[in-house]
Amino acid sequence: MSKIKPVYASFRSIGAYVPEKILSNTDLEKMVDTTDEWIVKRTGISERHIAAENEYTSDMGAKAAELAIKRSGIPKEDIDLVLCATVTPDYFNMPSTACVISDKLAIHNVQAFDISAACSGFVYLLSVAKAFIESGMKKNVLVIGAEKFSSIVDYTDRSTCILFGDGAGAAVISASEKKEEGFIDIHASADGSYADFLVTPAPGSIHPVSQKVIDEGLNFVQMKGNETFKLAVKTLTKDVKEILAKNEIDSNDIPHFIPHQANYRIIKAVGDALKMKEEQVVLTVHKYGNTSAASIPMAINDIWESGRLQNGELMLLDTFGGGLTWASALLPFAGKSV
Ligand code: UT7
Repeated sequence: MSKIKPVYASFRSIGAYVPEKILSNTDLEKMVDTTDEWIVKRTGISERHIAAENEYTSDMGAKAAELAIKRSGIPKEDIDLVLCATVTPDYFNMPSTACVISDKLAIHNVQAFDISAACSGFVYLLSVAKAFIESGMKKNVLVIGAEKFSSIVDYTDRSTCILFGDGAGAAVISASEKKEEGFIDIHASADGSYADFLVTPAPGSIHPVSQKVIDEGLNFVQMKGNETFKLAVKTLTKDVKEILAKNEIDSNDIPHFIPHQANYRIIKAVGDALKMKEEQVVLTVHKYGNTSAASIPMAINDIWESGRLQNGELMLLDTFGGGLTWASALLPFAGKSV
């Protein structure tokens, strides 16, 4: 009797796109009652990139995806699933941004869909890609995190407008017969009882578009910043400790800890709790701000492009966002080094 060979989901390549326009803290000082000093001290952010008016989430996602496909060495025709994580889709309900991106890449007749898990979206999608690949349903999955967060930010609200930026990141996840190339573990979770910590009230079935929505600014993101901050530190630390303990890996043996880039103080608190050295922790928040679902793939791309991420090296991903959602992943980089 012939035995079916197991296949493993492997992280083949990374790509990212950062829009050209920079919004600096000094620019924000002219827009709201804030200072560069306050923003840097409380968040670690110095600047963020903002998409052009006629540049949409799908444009950024397609550019990141194009790079990821090219770097994977896998022909575009072999991609058999396109997934996009975003809370700032091109269209509120349909078509999905994954469908629009597929068309921009001329990838037709393959399954494509979006998920909404806010900042946790990319890691959530890695778990979806893993399930599709390891069940044998798909072979090469394009995973995208893309956000035009500036489209839901109220630039008169100093508590949120200083935090967010635009951008996209993408990865190709492929089937491999080599166990050592496969994801080691992924954990993703949610708790809807904290839904009001981070919310964009409209448009939706509760608040369809109306004059009231416009007048009350219900189309903008609202955040209970301080409460979210405290819960983020607690949840991220616990989640990462658990995934390391479960897999009997010491935090010192992780060359690349890549947390969601929301606030330097959150990253520092989690890194310290894990006794991580500075060089283990990947930081991009100072130059991109919080790009939600794009933040982790943009950070992976940064270390890959700078030659810091080598084939076979272990990555520890950790994220937290609206929903509330959170997720962590342990996996080797199975692509080519720069
Ligand atoms: O990606 C999803 C997850 N998101 C996050 O993890 C974000 C988590 N939250 C945060 O990063 C932080 O809570 C913020 C950066 C948003 C705020 O920092 P904080 O240390 O939690 O400040 P706070 O909200 O407790 O506000 C402290 C003070 C307040 O003034 P009073 O009431 O003490 O007089 C705010 O009005 O800081 C004031 N404030 C500002 N001052 C200058 C809030 N925003 C600003 C600002 N500039 N931009």
